[in-house]
Amino acid sequence: MRKRIVAGNWKMNTDKSSAIALAEAVKNQLVSVPSNTEVVLCVPFVHISEVKRVLDGSSIKTGAQNCYTQPSGAYTGEVSAPMLRSYGVEYVILGHSERREYFKESNAELAQKVKIALENNLIPIFCVGEVKEERQAGVHISVVERQLEESLFHLSAEHFFKIVIAYEPVWAIGTGLTATTAQAQEMHNAVRQMIAKKYSSDIAERISILYGGSCKPENARELFACADVDGGLIGGASLKASDFVAIVNSF
Ligand code: PGA
Repeated sequence: MRKRIVAGNWKMNTDKSSAIALAEAVKNQLVSVPSNTEVVLCVPFVHISEVKRVLDGSSIKTGAQNCYTQPSGAYTGEVSAPMLRSYGVEYVILGHSERREYFKESNAELAQKVKIALENNLIPIFCVGEVKEERQAGVHISVVERQLEESLFHLSAEHFFKIVIAYEPVWAIGTGLTATTAQAQEMHNAVRQMIAKKYSSDIAERISILYGGSCKPENARELFACADVDGGLIGGASLKASDFVAIVNSF
């Protein structure tokens, strides 16, 4: 059975006290985590230590939202995978569309980030997804295939197996527009078929593929009920503990 994952992506939100309060609220409100489900909070770098302290003793994992391609050195302002690991971080979001758009992260650069994350025992939550024009042109599946091919499909089966994929249609992120269950299932199934073709159907069946893009308590249940949707990457709704916890409880 595939692992189900709900990961909150706080993006560049919260300050020290509100980050602590939000992590505490999620921890307190999440009375029990559904079976076979992993709950992760991907928080801004500066809050990792405090959030980790709050979450210690619970089953909720701490994640980051990015890491640099190199392990250390003269890269002013960057944060490395070994640094994150030394703070007990277990997951790292890579390839989020906001990183691709605003920070010009290419598929090739993301391949390097995936490599260093895996070398440091971080689980990448690797984001793929098409922009509105690509969906309108009907090329959404080939866009996602290219993202996977150029950033992940060179990995050995042993390494690929550790990856979590998040399908996030860019037009649905923060817009209130959500993919329909048919659109989500179509893409998740297509991704699983790509993995089966590249690796094996056994590996394809075991990789968790999350949906992200305006996922909220009102639509999480129907999205998570799709055969190939194994959870969600939650932006806006992860900033309100009760909404995030309701989404976790939507399986
Ligand atoms: P959203 O963001 O839930 O606010 O649409 C999702 C994401 O960007 O990961």
